[in-house]
Amino acid sequence: MDSLEIKGGTPLNGEVQISGAKNAVLPILAATILTREPCIIRNVPELADVKTMCQILESLGATTKIEGKTVTVQAAKVRDFADYDLVRKMRGSLCVLGPLLARLKKATVSMPGGCVIGTRPVDLHRKAMEALGARVKVENGYIIASARKLTGGEMFLGGRAGPTVLGTANAMMAATLAEGITVIEHAACEPEVVDLGKFLNNIGAQIQGLGSPTLTITGVKELGGAEHEVIPDRIEAATYAIAGVVTKGEVTLKGARPDHMKAVIEKLRESGVKVDQSKGKLTFKRGRGLHSVHITTLPHPGFPTDVQAQMMTFMTQTPGISVITERIFESRFTHVQELERLGAEISIEGPSAIVHGVQKLSGATIMASDLRASAALVIAGMVAKGTTRINRIYHLDRGYENLDSKLKKLGAKVKRVRQN
Ligand code: EPZ
Repeated sequence: MDSLEIKGGTPLNGEVQISGAKNAVLPILAATILTREPCIIRNVPELADVKTMCQILESLGATTKIEGKTVTVQAAKVRDFADYDLVRKMRGSLCVLGPLLARLKKATVSMPGGCVIGTRPVDLHRKAMEALGARVKVENGYIIASARKLTGGEMFLGGRAGPTVLGTANAMMAATLAEGITVIEHAACEPEVVDLGKFLNNIGAQIQGLGSPTLTITGVKELGGAEHEVIPDRIEAATYAIAGVVTKGEVTLKGARPDHMKAVIEKLRESGVKVDQSKGKLTFKRGRGLHSVHITTLPHPGFPTDVQAQMMTFMTQTPGISVITERIFESRFTHVQELERLGAEISIEGPSAIVHGVQKLSGATIMASDLRASAALVIAGMVAKGTTRINRIYHLDRGYENLDSKLKKLGAKVKRVRQN
């Protein structure tokens, strides 16, 4: 397993091109199952998770072709079985459930593995499929859904932590081919869900209310093919913005969508970061001084849980006491103990982390865990004095395209150490 060796203390300066959004492209690739026609998806990030999703589509009988950042998929024929070995690799593969059920009226999808950030239940996915007339059971580690036909229905997709992103995706995709009208209440409003909805409308679906908590889908008989450009990754963008500021540099994001990042931009400004927007570019640098902030992660348009870990590293470098409360996942603090190994002073009180700043960080060997926690550790390594070695960086390769080369271009002293 590869590791990353980082020499801290160098400011990041320059421009970084933001890649296509991982959490938009995964459900969009799954949605190609809904049609026999070829679909061309552009601005696809070169990520391990994209390769895994293409393998899943191939295992279901579709053909896929990856040419740089363009992926062409044609699901002329599909099987109804998504096997464990591929699905367990990532939670995102759960989003083949809805399209498979819509296309074949039967779907057998492995239960996604749990992961370090929480149990990842599927009760809302099941509720959505049942609201469309499907019978759903969990047997031998598989979700098995079947229906004589899918009929439009009403559903409320609010769970213990608010809406479900992939649950909304599955419900929307299945409803496109259901007979009649489906209304989804308390739907997720994330930009990635909106992008999926736009792709579905591009291939002939009839979805209204995208970006709002109420979606209305009028079922159609069949869907066609289309070309679609994926939105930029707001989480990758936030990660580079934070890295630039904490290393005392100035980083400009090319291709980021400020309208997708309002909560992050607002909180960074509140903590003293200067954010300039001009000609499609967003520049972040420290103002006269940083100060502590209090943040709670919430469903979109609130502060994104996927930026919680990176923001915690930022907080170790702002004077005073900052508090970050995680309201989406029940255990998304695996990065805390690793940050403490670098010298951070953080105490956990239930869903909140209390961060004492400013902490001088010093290099050490640490372990990556979930994707976003790993990004937080990379940022911390670039701030820490001396060398930091981060093991198990395959987590990063799942969600950050060419991370080491993008960081090197910004001046970071980062080296990928290949291990057998
Ligand atoms: C998506 O996961 C993202 N993944 C996650 O990003 C992101 O953190 C999450 O949404 C929240 O924004 C992809 O899009 C591939 P949820 P998802 O269903 O859809 C509970 C990353 O780092 N819940 O919105 O699986 C759940 O336990 C990843 O890129 C139920 O209770 O998340 C959580 O507390 C990590 N029942 C809350 O809802 C269900 O049936 C939100 O989860 C489903 C979810």
